[in-house]
Amino acid sequence: MISAQDISKAADLLLSGALVAFPTETVYGLGALATDDRAVARIYDAKGRPTFNPLISHVPDVEAAFALGEFSADALKLAARFWPGPLTLVVPRWSTCTVSLLASAGLPSLAIRVPQHAIALELLRAVGKPVVAPSANPSGRISPTTAQHVRDGLGDKVSLVLDGGACTVGVESTVVSFLEGKATLLRPGGLAREAIEEALGYKLAEGLANVMHSPGQMESHYAPHAAMRLNAEVAINGEAYLGFGKFGREYNLSSSGDVVEAAANLFRMLHELDALKPERIAVAPIPMIGLGEAINDRLKRAAAPR
Ligand code: TXA
Ligand code: MG
Repeated sequence: MISAQDISKAADLLLSGALVAFPTETVYGLGALATDDRAVARIYDAKGRPTFNPLISHVPDVEAAFALGEFSADALKLAARFWPGPLTLVVPRWSTCTVSLLASAGLPSLAIRVPQHAIALELLRAVGKPVVAPSANPSGRISPTTAQHVRDGLGDKVSLVLDGGACTVGVESTVVSFLEGKATLLRPGGLAREAIEEALGYKLAEGLANVMHSPGQMESHYAPHAAMRLNAEVAINGEAYLGFGKFGREYNLSSSGDVVEAAANLFRMLHELDALKPERIAVAPIPMIGLGEAINDRLKRAAAPR
C-alpha cells in the first residue's frame, strides 16, 4: 500500500531533481521534474537512450495541460472526453511553457497526458509541476508493467519506485498530434483508434510512429538559424562559441566535462547563442561517452547542410 508519506517523499525527491518511478494505467513511468534540465537529462542517462526522444509531460488535470500548450478545438474535444486516460496529445507549446527544451528535444511542440491512476494523480498534484516520464525500462527493452520490472531493469538508477501493483492497460498511451490541423495518429496505444475517430467525427491521419525516424523533419527542427561548425577548439572570424570542458568560458555546456550536465544545457544554450544572430556557431568537441553520443547526434543534425 502507498501511504500519504510515500507520496510526499516521492514528490520531494522529484522536486529535488531525483528520478522516481511511478505506476500509471498504461506502464510504469520513469519520472523527472519537467522544468528541471538536469533532472530531464538524468532520464536519458538512466535509460541509456541513444537519442533524445521527446518525452511526455504528465499533469493531474486539463487545466494544468492548458497552461503548457495550445489546444485546438479538436484537441480540446479529445482531452475533455478521454482524460484522465491512456491518450497523449501533441500540441504546440506556448512560448511561456516552462518545460525543459530537452524534454521536447528542441521541438516547438509538447506531448501531454493526464494519466488515469490514483497514485500517479496524487503524485502529480503533490508535485504541482509537470512530470516527464518515459516508460521506466532501459532503452530497447520491454516496457515495465510492475514495480519489480522497474527494479530489475533500472535498479539503483532510480531513487524510489512507487509500487502500485500491475498496470491495468499494459501498453503505452495512444499518441495523437494536432500540429497539422487535423488529428494525426503517431503511436497506436492503450486507447483504440476507433474511439478517437468516433469522438472527432473523422478518420485519423497516419503519422510517423516516432518523430526521431524522420531525419528530414528532425534536421530542420533541431537546426539553429546560424550555420554550425563542430569539433572546434576555438572560435574564428566572429563565430559564437559553445564550449565544453576546458574549451570555452561564457557559454560552456559543462565546464567540468560532465556529459549529463551538457545534455541538460544543450538546447537552451543553442537557443541563446542563436538569439545573438551570429553567422555561425562553433561547438567544442564532445566525447562520445554516455550522453555524449546523443549530444553529438543532435549536433550533427543541427550542422547538416540545409
Ligand atoms: O503510456 C505512456 O505514454 C507512458 C507512461 C509512462 O505515461 N510513457 C511513454 O513515454 O510511453 P515514452 O517516452 O516511452 O514515449 C513517448 C512517445 C514517443 O513515441 C515520442 O516520440 C512521442 O511520445 N512524443 C513525445 N513528444 C513528442 C512530440 N513533441 N512530438 C511528437 N511525438 C512526441
Ligand atoms: Mg518507451
